[in-house]
Amino acid sequence: MRDGRPAASRFSLRVCVPMSAFPKLTDLGWRRRLRSRVLRWYDLNGRKLPWRESADPYRIWISEIMLQQTTVAAVVPYFERFIQRFPTVKALAKAEQSEVLRLWEGLGYYSRARNLHSTAQVIVNELSGEFPRTADELTKLPGIGPYTAGAIASFAFDQPAPIVEANTLRLYSRLIAMEIDPRGAAGQKTLWKFAAWIVSRRRAADFNQAVMDIGSQVCRPRDPECPKCPLMASCKAYEAGLQIQIPLQPTKTVITDVVEVSIAVRRGNQFLLRQCTEKERWAGLWDFVRFELTDAQAAALKIPEKTRAKVAVLPGQQSLFADDSAVATQPLDAVLQAQVQEQTGISVETYRPTMEIRHAVTRYRIRLLCITCEVSGGRLKRGAGFQWYSLTQLTDLPLSRTGRQVADRLE
Ligand code: ADE
Repeated sequence: MRDGRPAASRFSLRVCVPMSAFPKLTDLGWRRRLRSRVLRWYDLNGRKLPWRESADPYRIWISEIMLQQTTVAAVVPYFERFIQRFPTVKALAKAEQSEVLRLWEGLGYYSRARNLHSTAQVIVNELSGEFPRTADELTKLPGIGPYTAGAIASFAFDQPAPIVEANTLRLYSRLIAMEIDPRGAAGQKTLWKFAAWIVSRRRAADFNQAVMDIGSQVCRPRDPECPKCPLMASCKAYEAGLQIQIPLQPTKTVITDVVEVSIAVRRGNQFLLRQCTEKERWAGLWDFVRFELTDAQAAALKIPEKTRAKVAVLPGQQSLFADDSAVATQPLDAVLQAQVQEQTGISVETYRPTMEIRHAVTRYRIRLLCITCEVSGGRLKRGAGFQWYSLTQLTDLPLSRTGRQVADRLE
């Protein structure tokens, strides 16, 4: 306890908002004004987005799953390609998983694409291709949580179902000046209760689309545009001057640096790839030989500390990537040779650096050193899952994000 209040251990801010700042869930006048402000704003400012053009629950479902991965702008081309290839839930159910993953490539969280595919099969095989109409029924489907269920029920069927996702979490936390962790159990309970209470019974679809748009366009995380906000007069955080502090931010996750190596093992014009298993980061996708270096191995390889570009052809001197000319080959370090041998049964002796890719996955900041090796002997190990693929075949194979970056540079 601190200042007589529980310490917000993972949260960096302590604000003191009088509980009276919470709107009472009986303040029907406050709710009526807020709803009508939201809908009026939406009529004038709502965004035209491809998944808003119809009330097809299938399209809404696809868009919402994609929107859990990245921004609206990044989703639009993925959505359009996906819908063009799989225009109905039946078309998706019939597809090969590899094609679904190929269209998902680059969006991340590939388990979501796999769930999407298997849920489409459940909808077709067990529900005659019809989506349930209520949020409660929708959440019984695999991979559909309360947010996605609320989005489908409200956007497709105009049900007054609550939604809480990143944008509404921020908007609602501010509207009610919630001073507790919005992602913790108590905060989530409060927000969902509020969302259910506030959602308009009339034009529920428009209301929910509108609160998301206000959340993303106006009630922005670091620079909320309160003077332009249709809800300024209803906002308890604004009233208390706490719109920057609310919602409370989690303290920063500790980032771990990792060095990994990707080795494109080549035999003529073919390369060795393996499908990642369920437990791996890129489950279901294909990747080249890849492994993490221990700190000692990374230090022994004298990898240059810095390369400026995120994706760069490596400059190198006297180290693994120590070649001025990116085309010359050098003796491969024994540790890396042994890794390739162990994973694949194949021997490689020399290498050619291709590039370094810097990327982040959850709390890991990864430097991926990419190299190409020619086969010098050995036999492909059985049961390890590696197979030879030509560059042409790689075009249709669903690859990990970095695998695709590597493949795009192979000749
Ligand atoms: N973010 C998540 N779902 C969204 C939607 N339907 N419209 C705009 N932004 C969103």
